[in-house]
Amino acid sequence: MGQLSAPASDPRAELRRLYRGLRLEGFEIPTSDKHRVERSSGSSTYGELRPTATIRLLAQLGLSRRDQFVDLGSGLGKVVLLAAMTTPVGRALGVELSATRVAVAARVLATAQREHVAGSRRAAFVQADMLRHPLDEATVIYTCSTAFSSAFMARLQRRLAKLPRLRTLVSLQDFDPHPAFELREVVRLDASWKRGTKVHIYARRSHAGASATQARSRRPS
Ligand SMILES: C[S@@+](CC[C@H](N)C(=O)[O-])C[C@H]1O[C@@H](n2cnc3c(N)ncnc32)[C@H](O)[C@@H]1O
Repeated sequence: MGQLSAPASDPRAELRRLYRGLRLEGFEIPTSDKHRVERSSGSSTYGELRPTATIRLLAQLGLSRRDQFVDLGSGLGKVVLLAAMTTPVGRALGVELSATRVAVAARVLATAQREHVAGSRRAAFVQADMLRHPLDEATVIYTCSTAFSSAFMARLQRRLAKLPRLRTLVSLQDFDPHPAFELREVVRLDASWKRGTKVHIYARRSHAGASATQARSRRPS
């Protein structure tokens, strides 16, 4: 369905407006919520890529309407909203286990959709564990993984290596070498806790199974 709005002329200003008054909500979360995240073996520590850095990274990923962009551990939802607002991506999905954070993201998204903010209809959030939520449609995955343990990173990588449509994986923490992924580039971008933090961009190496699935999904029905 078409949208009534034109693309935001300054998405950073639009984002500031949408999150005004919510700035610190979700940075600290209740103990019960922390336990939920930590039971998944993930980390509940919070931090964000700065909006200008996010917009630069998203532009570099060359997202098109055939892509599904997923932020694993989407926190308050800014990366997902910016993906929907500033790129032609088909779908931008945030997967976040903290109920508090996903509630803030959903509240902001509802406001954005009500106000016809450009692209906001292509964004969605789900409260789920990134190690379990189905990701078969994902083509580009981003994860702000700085605080994840090496064991968690290894489990996540094993899972992502099996995804049929994945073409690009972006992670703040580097992954160990794996036959499914080739490190293409390391860029330095500003995050809330550190300027010029390393961001690792991996290309998915094609393999027979993935190529066959991609060819099938591109064939006109
Ligand atoms: C550093 S924050 C990322 C914030 C956001 N992606 C951004 O850059 O603005 C990492 C998030 O991952 C979430 N998380 C940790 N383990 C998780 C899991 N197993 N499944 C889903 N989310 C998880 C945490 O609750 C936290 O909000």
